[in-house]
Amino acid sequence: MRISGISVKELARKYGTPLYVYDFSRIRENARRLKTAFKSDEVQVDFYYAMKANCHPAILKIFLEEGYGMDCVSPGELQLAIQTGVKPEHILYTGNYESHDDLKAAFNSGVKINLDDISSLYRLLKVGKPELITYRINPGKGNGKYEEITTGGDKAKFGVPFEKAVIAYENAIKAGIKRFGAHMMTGSGVLETDHFPRMLELFLNELSVIRSTLGINFEFIDMGGGFGIPYYGDDEVLDIEDVGKKTLEVFRKKVKEHQLGDPVLALEPGRYLVGDAGYLISRVNGIKEGYRTFIGLDAGFNTLIRSALYGAQHSIVFDGKEDETPSLKADICGQICENTDIFTKDRMVPEVAEGDLAIFTQAGAYGNVMAMPYNLRYRPAEVAIIDGQDVQITRRETIDDYLNRIQNIK
Ligand code: LLP
Repeated sequence: MRISGISVKELARKYGTPLYVYDFSRIRENARRLKTAFKSDEVQVDFYYAMKANCHPAILKIFLEEGYGMDCVSPGELQLAIQTGVKPEHILYTGNYESHDDLKAAFNSGVKINLDDISSLYRLLKVGKPELITYRINPGKGNGKYEEITTGGDKAKFGVPFEKAVIAYENAIKAGIKRFGAHMMTGSGVLETDHFPRMLELFLNELSVIRSTLGINFEFIDMGGGFGIPYYGDDEVLDIEDVGKKTLEVFRKKVKEHQLGDPVLALEPGRYLVGDAGYLISRVNGIKEGYRTFIGLDAGFNTLIRSALYGAQHSIVFDGKEDETPSLKADICGQICENTDIFTKDRMVPEVAEGDLAIFTQAGAYGNVMAMPYNLRYRPAEVAIIDGQDVQITRRETIDDYLNRIQNIK
């Protein structure tokens, strides 16, 4: 197998495994494709990259160059976005149960603040009064690839429930805030085109209630991210052009119908932009024939947690065996001392051997950013392929990275 022309064998030999590899040209392509899909002469569309998906500074730089702002969730992300050169006015801060210090960091940096709850406003006002605020509204519905990543609806911990949205904005007006935006994010990994225009329509109907009750003029309306990518099995490719066309149609129609003025439409995807540009290269350590057959890799949930956390299925390619007929039924697992350290069960795979390379595709989003040094297994190195050349962009973690933080040993 090759990634952007470079053999995975060579990458594994040079940098070791487990190893994250990113095809930077693919990230750029994704960024441009999304922009093209949402191009409109009538509506201003602003693009933010949800940097939680992969916050490597070299990746942030690509989005900066491609004219994206950043969607941040923590003071850490905020600091990194600013250090990367993103202008505060191009940063949206969407926290969750924001602390005083979180809000202080956001306020002091002058970014747009998107509040998670009615109560957040009062915590913010103790820090200062921005000219503009946004609320994350939970429109009451959501949809995600897994329930765990469905971020809207009555089970989600995020946002102001729509029934309280009028009061939320009213409180902000009373506090003297003058300018407003509105935001929703209802789910991640969605592969159905119609979900996006449907949710936007519901949201715009809800915003018209707020507008007619309070006379608010929304300067921008952020429909979140959530665009899915195919990972495995029956997953289909999301027709992003169709999503863009239908979403823009609904936006124009409903904004006009509800006389919502001339708001900017904002998007803040993460996965769609980086997911399919990333690979995780791991090695088969051992094959156990027991009650079941286990293929044990040197990557585990410490490296890629999505399967343990959501039951997410990734395509796993065995290098050099791509064309072999799968004849072995096996569970594929990692080395962590937990029974949940399983990537997949009963997967049909070719005859594999110790030392084979197992490559997880679609590992660019929520991969290394969610990795952890549990069991003191160090976080992997990261390599970028840029113009056909491999460059290490993160070195592998070492015991010193851990020990550097240890203090006061008597
Ligand atoms: N904006 C907000 C406010 C969000 O909460 C999220 C994701 C995004 C944007 C970006 O969503 P995306 O376009 O990437 O779907 N770790 C999970 C995904 C959790 C997503 C949480 N919020 C996974 O590995 O599937």
